[in-house]
Amino acid sequence: FNVLVLNGPNLNMLGKREPDVYGRETLAEIMASLTQAAEQKDINLTHFQSNAEGDLIDRIHQSFEKIDFIIINPAAYTHTSVALRDALLSVSIPFIEVHLSNVHQREVFRHHSYFSDIAFGVICGLGSQGYFYALESANKQLLKSAP
Ligand code: DQA
Repeated sequence: FNVLVLNGPNLNMLGKREPDVYGRETLAEIMASLTQAAEQKDINLTHFQSNAEGDLIDRIHQSFEKIDFIIINPAAYTHTSVALRDALLSVSIPFIEVHLSNVHQREVFRHHSYFSDIAFGVICGLGSQGYFYALESANKQLLKSAP
């Protein structure tokens, strides 16, 4: 199976950025262990982070008929981007939305997501573990739906 992990703006600053909220691990560290976890499940994992909405959208379009499942942390675009939502709908690839922090415990503007109602599932507040739970769940779902 081919799984794409997408991370939105400012997540390249993980480790340095508000460590009390987002933890001390860097994105590179998290993605390296996630890639290892994927290998053990025979999943080919690709990771892409961008601070630009258009680049994330392009990456989603390129995934059409190539990627079986997406794990996405849209970061601040969660709360703003109809365009990113439409991109995911346009390729109809199932996805899990992940947030490191518990967005519902934070500012009111973080309570709404443009993704949750069309997501396969949503994980938030569990830190970097959320990506691993998402991978586990994606794998289960892919095995279930495989011919
Ligand atoms: C985030 C939560 C968002 O509200 C925020 O804009 C982020 C990160 C998280 O992983 O907790 O950049 O998606």
